[in-house]
Amino acid sequence: MSDAIKVGFVPLASATRGILVVFCDEALKVGPATAKALGGAGELVKRAAAAGSFKGKSGAALDILAPEGLKAERLIVIGTGKAGGLKGNDFLKFGGMAAGKLKAGSAAMTIMAELPDGAMNTEQTVAIASGLRLRAYKFDRYKTKKKEGEEGALRADVSLAVGDVAAAKKAFASAGAVVDGVIIARDLVNEPPNVLFPEEFARRAGQLRKLGVRIEVLDVKAMQKLGMGALLGVGQGSARPSRTVIMRWDGGKKGEAPVAFVGKGVCFDTGGISIKAAGSMEDMKGDMGGAACVVGLMHALAARKAKANVVGAIGLVENMPDGNAQRPGDIVTSMSGQTIEIINTDAEGRLVLADVLWYVAKKTKPKFMVDLATLTGAIVVALGTDHAGMFSNNDELAGRLLAAGIESGEKVWRLPLGPEYDKLIDSQFADMKNTGGRHGGSITAAQFLQRFVDGTPWAHLDIAGTAMGAPKTDINQSWGSGYGVRLLDRLVADHYERK
Ligand code: BES
Ligand code: MN
Ligand code: ZN
Repeated sequence: MSDAIKVGFVPLASATRGILVVFCDEALKVGPATAKALGGAGELVKRAAAAGSFKGKSGAALDILAPEGLKAERLIVIGTGKAGGLKGNDFLKFGGMAAGKLKAGSAAMTIMAELPDGAMNTEQTVAIASGLRLRAYKFDRYKTKKKEGEEGALRADVSLAVGDVAAAKKAFASAGAVVDGVIIARDLVNEPPNVLFPEEFARRAGQLRKLGVRIEVLDVKAMQKLGMGALLGVGQGSARPSRTVIMRWDGGKKGEAPVAFVGKGVCFDTGGISIKAAGSMEDMKGDMGGAACVVGLMHALAARKAKANVVGAIGLVENMPDGNAQRPGDIVTSMSGQTIEIINTDAEGRLVLADVLWYVAKKTKPKFMVDLATLTGAIVVALGTDHAGMFSNNDELAGRLLAAGIESGEKVWRLPLGPEYDKLIDSQFADMKNTGGRHGGSITAAQFLQRFVDGTPWAHLDIAGTAMGAPKTDINQSWGSGYGVRLLDRLVADHYERK
């Protein structure tokens, strides 16, 4: 991973160079170290604020070039809004805003991690550092020519001036691991499907071995032996053989039941014989966003040595039309023994997850399973790109995910499950069918998954709207967002780590 931004920590009193970033509230008040660093330029800020109608509102910024009386070549003042009204997630945004001010070429920046009432705490400081790195991420691996103004990659050296340098360094070792996990997930989603197919995806997941993650790869033969007919049916039309990868991080008590995360890894979804329309079909390279999140999450947890036992499992297939492809009308037998009538070969994600969920429930007996999948277009219609859809058979787990979503800014919104929906997927020929018609399409997809969790506490996150193509934000300028890594890292940290 080569980062465009190098982040370091220095004491709050340090001299500043390059671009200086400071924070003020709605009264344009700054902290004591900031006031000192600004010196006579404090008055300049007040004049510039008045001229630019900057009122210190949260998320607003003032950008002053060549500020008189300062060594800094540029002064950026970021508003924090009303005193005391800040959430953890706002600091991530501040870091993103600061990084957004950097242009191509090399630059030095100092950020005064201070609020009007004194130094930011370590958690807030580290959130700024994470925000910087998340914003600076760019997937340009396949660009051989740079646009005008983009000559010379961004190489920024950012110093965060903080109250407690040692504490910030220590905390960023962990928080930085989570950022690395997000970046891994984004890279996987952004990669083209001719490069990232099931075997290559499995190989990349295998790189987690370096961090002490145990990796098991099931090839087609192994999956046949297990009876994973639902997953294998999806992949049978592809020249690229399917894989399932099971990752294990044992950072908790020996013998304690793990928590488990399961990802849909459809490396490309043409729809199969029920082929999709051509418009935007290229986006279906991102149909492995759930699996990408699970790999990124396992990286984060292992790299920060999370004190928890965690299983990550991903089903990797390519859904192609072919002489050997699965047909509508086919009936497949899943690993659970339940039979499935294929109505639409484009409802393939649930078939993949059916076998992986069953495998994880039976073989690892987890405390809970959370699956992530770019499962339905219907969830994008229902919730847009700002919340993932959440379905769960367990109120405690759902509540914890909801809270972790608010804290991390990766939000979820719960939708219902119930027997009335469940019967919509009963089939006249098999135990169930793989689609339930147009009504409640995200719900019937979730009902289908629930038939394979074997009573295990479970939540399903439909991330079709959040994993890719969502509008750019202060902390994400990339098509693949890496959604879910920070959410689930937070869930584990808040509830499932040994203290
Ligand atoms: N991968 C798609 C869902 C999707 C759509 C993800 C748009 C991201 C953006 C999934 O496999 C699919 O094709 N679902 C169908 C289900 C239908 C055939 C019941 C859908 O949503 O139309
Ligand atoms: Mn599909
Ligand atoms: Zn799909």
